[in-house]
Amino acid sequence: MFAPPSPSAIAGDLQAQERLLSVTDLGVRYAVPGAGFGQPQRYFEVLDDITFDIARGETLGLVGESGSGKSTIGRALLRRIKLSSGRIDFEGRDITNLEGEEVRQLRKRMQLIFQDPYASLNPRMSVGELIAEPLIVHGLARNRDDARDRVLDLLDCVSLPRTTIDRHLHGFSGGQRQRIGIARALALQPAFIVADEPVSALDVSVRAQVINLMQDLQRSMGLSYLFIGHDLGVIRHISQRIAIIHSGRIIEIGDRDSIYQRPQHPYSRALLAAIPVPVPGGRVKSSVAAPAGSRVEVSRSLPGCRYRARCPVAIARCSEETPRLKQVTPTHAVACWQH
Ligand SMILES: Nc1ncnc2c1ncn2[C@@H]1O[C@H](COP(=O)(O)OP(=O)(O)OP(=O)(O)O)[C@@H](O)[C@H]1O
Ligand SMILES: [Mg+2]
Repeated sequence: MFAPPSPSAIAGDLQAQERLLSVTDLGVRYAVPGAGFGQPQRYFEVLDDITFDIARGETLGLVGESGSGKSTIGRALLRRIKLSSGRIDFEGRDITNLEGEEVRQLRKRMQLIFQDPYASLNPRMSVGELIAEPLIVHGLARNRDDARDRVLDLLDCVSLPRTTIDRHLHGFSGGQRQRIGIARALALQPAFIVADEPVSALDVSVRAQVINLMQDLQRSMGLSYLFIGHDLGVIRHISQRIAIIHSGRIIEIGDRDSIYQRPQHPYSRALLAAIPVPVPGGRVKSSVAAPAGSRVEVSRSLPGCRYRARCPVAIARCSEETPRLKQVTPTHAVACWQH
């Protein structure tokens, strides 16, 4: 029988038993409104050919400029949006076409942490209610009292005082609110968390505490993270491997040190050359703005490399054919015709 291509061929050969998640040729597209009668529907390709693995207990950092598709990858993995192509395997099971109750059950194993927990949590609920809610929704506790011991344990896990249980969200600092968001995400004992810019809204000093907490939890619970970020310093600190996304495609992926020390793609080089110095006590300015130079974008419906209009080393082939990820070392792959 024909075997599907293994994403483990891409930058790092994970053994099947340690692979938690595999994404193969994932695509997401949205119909562009306004096609006239009789004209073909046009699509905006938000994600194209996305392929990667995440091992148990590993953090894969995902970095790229605004609009490149990072949150869409997170939403696709959690099966919150429709996929147009590709396949997702999680804990040894194909989850690509799960629906309804099966997707709901998946929530026990996969969770999301947002940038701004205040926006994502109901401010009228007490901290205890917020953390107990997933337990009640999934039938693991009958009511808030029933969940109380578990909620207290979770508050311990995220180093919040137990007295927090009866307080409401307002009055908590950004860092404390993020701890509450993390406790809520952990309530169902997931194996995998998509952390979508979880510290981007926090002050630098608090950022380090939340990152350290996430790392401690990872070690004690064996969690895997897809860590989406703008701050390249944070991404470097927390990730074992890093994927760089540009215009809906992963253009480079590899182990942290080779990505930071030997970036291969012209976009990655421009991105990593622009790492800003943090201002003491201040916020680090978004470090993943478009690299300096032309802001010309290439239409996502055209073939070829989407970075070519900005690329200093583009050749004719870059407009004709789309480069796919190619191994440059056993732990590093790049999608560029110059390699
Ligand atoms: N429902 C939708 N319909 C049409 N286009 C969408 C939809 N959702 C997202 N997009 C587009 O998909 C692209 C990727 O969006 P996404 O939110 O994944 O980017 P991002 O990398 O997370 O950006 P940021 O760093 O700003 O959070 C953007 O161009 C966005 O406008
Ligand atoms: Mg986003």
